[in-house]
Amino acid sequence: MTTKTIAELLAQNVTTQDVTVKGWVRTFRANRFIALNDGSTINNIQCVVDFENFDENLLKRVTTGAAIEITGELVESQGKGQSVEIQVKTLEVLGDSDPETYPIQPKKHTFEFLRANAHLRTRTNTFSAVMRLRSSLSFAIHKYFNENGFYHMHTPIITGSDAEGAGEMFRVSTLDQKNPPLTEDGAIDHSKNFFGKDTNLTVSGQLEAETYAMSLGKVYTFGPTFRAENSNTSRHLSEFWMIEPEVAFMDLAGNMDLAEDFMKSVLSYILEHNREDLEFLEKRLLDDEKTKPQAERSEMSLIEKIKFVVDNNFKRVSYTEAIDILKNSKPNKKKKFKYIIEAWGADLQSEHERFLVEKHFKCPVILFDYPANIKAFYMRLNDDGKTVRAMDILFPGIGEMVGGSQREERLDVLKEKMKALDISEEELWWYLDLRKYGTAVHSGFGLGFERLVMFATGMGNIRDVIPYPRTPQNADF
Ligand code: 4AD
Ligand code: MG
Repeated sequence: MTTKTIAELLAQNVTTQDVTVKGWVRTFRANRFIALNDGSTINNIQCVVDFENFDENLLKRVTTGAAIEITGELVESQGKGQSVEIQVKTLEVLGDSDPETYPIQPKKHTFEFLRANAHLRTRTNTFSAVMRLRSSLSFAIHKYFNENGFYHMHTPIITGSDAEGAGEMFRVSTLDQKNPPLTEDGAIDHSKNFFGKDTNLTVSGQLEAETYAMSLGKVYTFGPTFRAENSNTSRHLSEFWMIEPEVAFMDLAGNMDLAEDFMKSVLSYILEHNREDLEFLEKRLLDDEKTKPQAERSEMSLIEKIKFVVDNNFKRVSYTEAIDILKNSKPNKKKKFKYIIEAWGADLQSEHERFLVEKHFKCPVILFDYPANIKAFYMRLNDDGKTVRAMDILFPGIGEMVGGSQREERLDVLKEKMKALDISEEELWWYLDLRKYGTAVHSGFGLGFERLVMFATGMGNIRDVIPYPRTPQNADF
């Protein structure tokens, strides 16, 4: 007798030996058919009970949500929907469930309801599929970098610098909040704080990743990042995971090639390894679409969309070209955009990004060479003196998926930029050192992991692709 996962059992042929499975009851129909799931696959295994052989009181405890152990023979299934099923010989209830109060009833629940029950929502097909895909994508990311000569580095989560300018930060402090020590001029005295200075949760591991790229060559960091912006949208989290590769001697063109190859590779991985979960989510989306008016329905199914990205080149478009397209676009001329594009230099809002990818190009777009003054201080200034070697990758349905750049490697230019933006050289002395000792062209990017999971699963709200979302006014669980 062997204990196997349901995924293993469903993939094998009938046996004459007994098998044992443990899992949670999804449904128990007609006092005869138990649908059991253990998380190893989207599919349940059907367990057939001959009720005459079992105590009535035991069978009453086989309710939705209960944990049970079953032993029996794996036989060819009589019914439709599965090739094998278990003819139950012994049944033990490992953990009872209360059918009156168990929140995950065998019916359709709203995502809002399931968010409030996030500790149990992975007992549904949708969330178990999403989280298995999330896990697969994470593995595929490490696999890609490992196979391409990158070193994985762990960048710090607590940081003493706030120079990146990527967003508002969360302060890390052990000072008495009611009665903080003060300096002579009445400011909070951070020299008495835990680290002897003011510290925050990181918004990005990039600056530290640059230091390792300038010695190990090709590195990446994949960790949690924190932004205290009050952005209550379906695409923003206050705590999200970011993948940031950084490569020495690589320019912006190389950076685009890397990002495109990397994204295609991880998406191919799930097409190959997560077929059943993708098919389930695809069907879910198709059912969902049926309730929408024809014009709002998507032209491609989920798997078609992923294949489309894997099989087609991303469109590379300069910021200047994009502005021309937007200026002459219908929604701009008819004043349908909330922010009308009037001139070169405008910051692109998500409505503009979505117009470019969803209406105009209808494919992922890499926008590059942005105006210097709307991008971060560390980006390499172009010879025109007004644009920087920045790139953003925009995806249909998501908007910005990746932000990256070639970094400014010239000490004098970088110093001037920092001075103009009032960024302290003292604080970033180590970052400037990289430009003093063996400086070189180098580039990297940041991919928002949850936005990738949204694209891969077709989920419309970023709160539904991370186990326990942190958003303004919400840090439950
Ligand atoms: O464009 P961002 O701010 O870039 C950086 O932080 C750079 N330091 C990256 C680098 O060059 N190494 O963020 C990168 C990506 C965005 O494109 C987006 O996908 C995601 O991170 N992102 C968020 N995802 C969820 N919630 C948020 N609040 C996010 N902010 C950014
Ligand atoms: Mg960005």
